[in-house]
Amino acid sequence: MRRGVPATAFEGRPQIAIANTASDLTPCNSHLDEVAQSVKNGIYEAGGIPLELPVVSLGETQVRPTAMLWRNMAAMATEEMLRANPIDGVVLLGGCDKTIPALLMAAASVDLPAVVVPGGPMLTGHFRGEALGCGTDVWRLSEEVRAGSLSEEMFLRSESSMIRSKGHCNTMGTASTMALVAEALGTIIPGLAGTPAPDARLLEAAHETGRLAVQLVAEDRRPSTFLTKGSFHNAIVALAAIGGSTNAVVHLLAIAGRLGIDLTIDDFDRIGAEVPLLVNLQPAGRYLMDDLYRAGGFLAVMREVRDLLDPVALTVTGKPFVDYLEDARIWDAEVITPRDSPLQPAAGITVLRGSLAPGGAIIKPAAASPHLLKHRGKAVVFDSVEDFHARIDDPDLDIDADSVMVLRGCGPKGYPGMPEVSNMPLPQKLLAQGVRDMVRICDGRMSGTAYGTVVLHVTPEAAAGGPLALVQTGDWIALDVRAGRLELDVPADDLAARTPNQATLDAYAAPARGWQRLYVDHVLQADQGADLDFLVGSSGSKVSRESH
Ligand code: FES
Repeated sequence: MRRGVPATAFEGRPQIAIANTASDLTPCNSHLDEVAQSVKNGIYEAGGIPLELPVVSLGETQVRPTAMLWRNMAAMATEEMLRANPIDGVVLLGGCDKTIPALLMAAASVDLPAVVVPGGPMLTGHFRGEALGCGTDVWRLSEEVRAGSLSEEMFLRSESSMIRSKGHCNTMGTASTMALVAEALGTIIPGLAGTPAPDARLLEAAHETGRLAVQLVAEDRRPSTFLTKGSFHNAIVALAAIGGSTNAVVHLLAIAGRLGIDLTIDDFDRIGAEVPLLVNLQPAGRYLMDDLYRAGGFLAVMREVRDLLDPVALTVTGKPFVDYLEDARIWDAEVITPRDSPLQPAAGITVLRGSLAPGGAIIKPAAASPHLLKHRGKAVVFDSVEDFHARIDDPDLDIDADSVMVLRGCGPKGYPGMPEVSNMPLPQKLLAQGVRDMVRICDGRMSGTAYGTVVLHVTPEAAAGGPLALVQTGDWIALDVRAGRLELDVPADDLAARTPNQATLDAYAAPARGWQRLYVDHVLQADQGADLDFLVGSSGSKVSRESH
């Protein structure tokens, strides 16, 4: 019983947890306490008892060594606390990159009635009269600093201008992507995702979600009752149409794994490859998340690709997702391009396979340079992020615009935690020559706000014995995105005779103890969502023993 609340207040009422990732150390989510209050109001109004449950929060810019290392821990801790406490249903409050994926993984495994409220993107900031996108413009301006055309002081001023309101990154980065994709999946009241964080309509929707949570318990609508392969089909179509982050691939695979749904990386290629890019947002385009909202919002985008969606895939409201599309309209065709004049005709994520990535790798062609989509170049290999930073600006580094930059030791096990480093900064000497993109290959991830011809999530990673560990500087590598191939042009016999060098092996020494040890011993590869092997699947909400 809560202090100050009489026992009668609880009688016959469902107890709804509000799993809240608000934290001062997660600036993108710091406003979620206000959102939680609106959720509480809705729960009370509908006859439930709201119970706030602070859960592990992950601030992408704060957490070291990488927030992805902790996603599974956040998911596990949330799952266990939802099961351990006397809770009938849950409202999930997330925003920053890993928080919505972790919450959905937890909800899938505990399988209590659950619904998400995404915290929403921040408002657009301007610098020198120009709109700036979080992340994407940070990369661009930091390259300017490296090239000597922008001072550090002006760079810091640009950052203050960019981050001017509450909310998560306002580009089509991972946070925006996961909110929209979670709506396509059916776990958010349709029309809510993408509402800017400072917008009063976010609080209205949070209130409405609180009411819905009570209804979910009454109708026993759990994730397992409405999330199907068709839901993931819709999420993949959405991911392509919005030009979303590659991180969504590992997160959706992990969520599907918790639900026992057979989703593979090839589904992303098969379902998404021919879906047109309709959203003109950074990093693939020009605008930002509040532009998308005023232009008609996510549902207007999805209405354009309605014929590609699974018509029976349900949402948390009990109605099919497609039922929400009829009234959606495009109000600004510069931001949301109609189906007959898309930004790009085919914008999904392409899966690459070949001798360098037997288990697969991915590339986002919409963020790549068209002239590099078919390329053959000599490898310049870095054994770790530290090795990369130590040598990339060495004037004597033998590298040119045609080289293929290879960074290994950045997979789930190797780092550990699969950091967002695949979009390696280019060598200063090539930037000074005007080079702005090169083929880059890595077993890590890439920020959703990044761009470039980057092959990532190479599987198996180097630390798991993948051929990436055997590449030597000077080897020829062939990339052919259209053909879906990534080949290391070294005779198989020569490759078989190679062993990883000592520097490579040293970089992959497993941590001695703690979460990192558990993680390295059990983490799955990127093509399986980088979940822990023993967390795949569901245990339901029943506790195994009573408290004694
Ligand atoms: Fe939180 Fe970008 S840092 S969404």
